[in-house]
Amino acid sequence: MTSAEQSIADYVRLLDPAVRSNPYPLFARLREGGPFRIGTAPVVVVTSHADCTAVLRDPRVSVDRSLAKLQLGSMPIYDATKTTAEQAKPSFLFLDPPDHTRLRRLVSKAFTPRVVQQLAPRITEIVDDILDKHSAAGAFDAVTAFAYPLPVTVICELLGVPLEDEARLSHWSALLARTLDPTSKQATEFRADPAEIQRAGTELSSYFEQLTERRRATPGPDLLSELLAAEDAGDMLSHDELISTCALLLVAGHETTVNLIANATLALLRRPDELAALRANPERAQAVVEETLRFDPPVQLIPRIAADDLTVGDLAVERGDLVVMLIAAAHRDPAAFPDPDRFDPARDNRNLAFGLGAHFCLGAPLARLEARIALTRFAQRVEMPRLTTDPPIYREHVNLRGPAHMPVEFAAILPP
Ligand code: HEM
Repeated sequence: MTSAEQSIADYVRLLDPAVRSNPYPLFARLREGGPFRIGTAPVVVVTSHADCTAVLRDPRVSVDRSLAKLQLGSMPIYDATKTTAEQAKPSFLFLDPPDHTRLRRLVSKAFTPRVVQQLAPRITEIVDDILDKHSAAGAFDAVTAFAYPLPVTVICELLGVPLEDEARLSHWSALLARTLDPTSKQATEFRADPAEIQRAGTELSSYFEQLTERRRATPGPDLLSELLAAEDAGDMLSHDELISTCALLLVAGHETTVNLIANATLALLRRPDELAALRANPERAQAVVEETLRFDPPVQLIPRIAADDLTVGDLAVERGDLVVMLIAAAHRDPAAFPDPDRFDPARDNRNLAFGLGAHFCLGAPLARLEARIALTRFAQRVEMPRLTTDPPIYREHVNLRGPAHMPVEFAAILPP
């Protein structure tokens, strides 16, 4: 097998749920082989830190999926029966300027570090309530009972979505997150059912249609009501854009921070010294969060479409090619991070976990704050925690990767 054939085989293996608990040996081999094209397909894969950084900074790449030679779905509201051009207006994650700039500006003031910092007392209260609920149990699932409820409660409160709708929302959101996974002709068995994803997109948009009608009648102190006021005020955002923005924020809030909290909790449970150090010094939380973002990133890859011909290393990329940046591989690149397989919160950390450039994650300050508070309270309040299944059971998602369940036993949960 040539090195290019080996890389393609490894890339296809990434889709196999059996490698989900530890894809890093595969990522290492993919990175060592350098950037590669998937056979004759209009898809190239980029793996080193330097190459991923260069592509993310390159003005010749776009997020507009209609430019791709390959037909790509665009999360969240994706109708598999329609062509790319006929899809409903995509969220601003998939838009280039000027639409991207206009829509991002409308919501960005709700996510600045200063505004987000004001949520700290409420976030602490939610985390403490979550832990209080399990204080008598002696064991809990650190994903479903701990990592999951915090970001979901926060995004629902911010957007103005009733928490009692949570079961439906989480079902749609998990399905829509599968549209961010790579696909391969050779690995059809690992693909999510397109009809089911399409239904989830339609149901989530009609959910927001109904909720916006209710908020129009009775506005609340939430982002959805603010966006409605902007829609009413004139041509700042259309109705379709309002719906796709809400869906983007809801899915982003459901599918990413939970993985960060779970992956960081897992890293600490596997390293009792780190957990003890955090318990002794809560200031360490920030470094633990940054190192988790590098070591076990909640978003493992970032796609772009070449809007012009370019080269990555020695590899020619043609206009219309999909460029898949495996940031989880880049984060273990020894050229960027000495001793990359070591979890070391003290290291100099230039991770790409939230992306780079114009589409840099809008929710980064919120995700970092939630994770810092959750980990600090976990370290301070959960006495002698112990993983009972290692590795834990992972979700099927390839890109938004994290455990589905993580059973933990503990001696006690101390009062706050
Ligand atoms: C640990 C948690 C999170 C991670 C790792 C993460 C990661 C990312 C990444 C990698 C991107 C860039 C995608 C690209 O360049 O194509 C992104 C964009 C985005 N994220 Fe996050 N995210 C997280 C949490 C959140 C949260 C909590 C929210 C909001 C509630 C959020 C909202 C967004 C939005 C709106 C964008 C699109 C920005 C744009 O296109 O301008 N994210 N995120």
